[in-house]
Amino acid sequence: MFEGIFGPAAGHASTRPRVSIAPGRINLIGEHTDYNEGWALPMAIDRGVRVVYVPRTDRALRVYSTAHQESRHLELDHLRCLEAGGGAGWWRYVAAVAAALERDGIELPGIDAVIVGDLPMASGLSSSAALELAVAGALCDAAGTEWRPRQMATLCARAENEGVGVACGVMDQMASALGRAGHALLLDCRTLEFETVALPGRAAVVVLDSGVQRTLAGSAFNLRRQACERATLVLGRLDSSVRALRDATLEQLEEVSPGLDAPTRRYARHVIEECDRPRGVVRAFARGDLEGAGELMNASHASLRDLYRVSCPELDAVTARARRHESCFGARLTGAGFGGCAIALVDSAGVEAFVDEMNAAETGAPTVRRGVCHAFRVEAAAGAHILVPDSCP
Ligand code: GLA
Repeated sequence: MFEGIFGPAAGHASTRPRVSIAPGRINLIGEHTDYNEGWALPMAIDRGVRVVYVPRTDRALRVYSTAHQESRHLELDHLRCLEAGGGAGWWRYVAAVAAALERDGIELPGIDAVIVGDLPMASGLSSSAALELAVAGALCDAAGTEWRPRQMATLCARAENEGVGVACGVMDQMASALGRAGHALLLDCRTLEFETVALPGRAAVVVLDSGVQRTLAGSAFNLRRQACERATLVLGRLDSSVRALRDATLEQLEEVSPGLDAPTRRYARHVIEECDRPRGVVRAFARGDLEGAGELMNASHASLRDLYRVSCPELDAVTARARRHESCFGARLTGAGFGGCAIALVDSAGVEAFVDEMNAAETGAPTVRRGVCHAFRVEAAAGAHILVPDSCP
């Protein structure tokens, strides 16, 4: 396989390929809260990125992306100049993660690697975080370094911030690194502590891909984050214990309102209210109250649409359509927004009919796919790991 892509196998330290797997994620609720040090409730899913690789005896990273049908040859000794360029090409994520690992003191060998995946890209299911964690897993494994999921999640998020220029928080990487089958993670994005939350047996999660591609780098995402920082600064002058929007109350926001422009006020209100919703959903799950969980999801979507303004007509239409189905408890956009995917919380007894209907339904929105969304069920999956050679294909 490697010879066909990169040429003669010279330089391989072993002949047995290994596979590093990292899942994508959906976020059940708690959107745009992570970089405000609040709570989120993501769930790793049974789709993701696989890096099939062999270690090399030198310091070359030869990487092929099946999705882009493109290969790149990077030298570990020259990563710094690559990083300085910024930009969001797939191989920049590889370079940024490798550079961050070396900065952390891990001396890496080169690898020959083929990247494959089954996540739709630029659709809000964290294909970037999955790529980062799968690459980090392969490189740590090749270097014989112990895998520390939480540290690797923060390292990958930092790599994306600094090496790619996206001011993302840490939720996606935490979900991809720490996911657990059958569970979501209630994540405290200040302490990075988390609880695993079992999904009620009656709950099924369905992804509704609007087909509208979104990109994070250079988008309004970074501007939203800057506005949140401005609001925090003003609130911190009122009360020095406000270190992030997580610490603020709606009363405090009201008090400082004259000092904030209207969009910043709206964004801050969304974040303050959204910070309470993940724990609300966890409580609803514990009572078996899926209707209550669904209502919180609907409220979260409305807030992202009206206050944070990161929805789009296609996501609004697809979630409205989903809510009309008798088996649907609630629906909301997931991830950053600006296009991409929504999710629906659905009664597992009716999930197949729901998926079929969503795939057939005209949503009435002017999407690139003429109003039809792509719906598929996802299961909560385990976080990033290495497949042992004996189980490799
Ligand atoms: C993107 C970012 C995350 C988070 C979400 C919004 O997925 O990568 O860190 O901010 O948007 O909740």
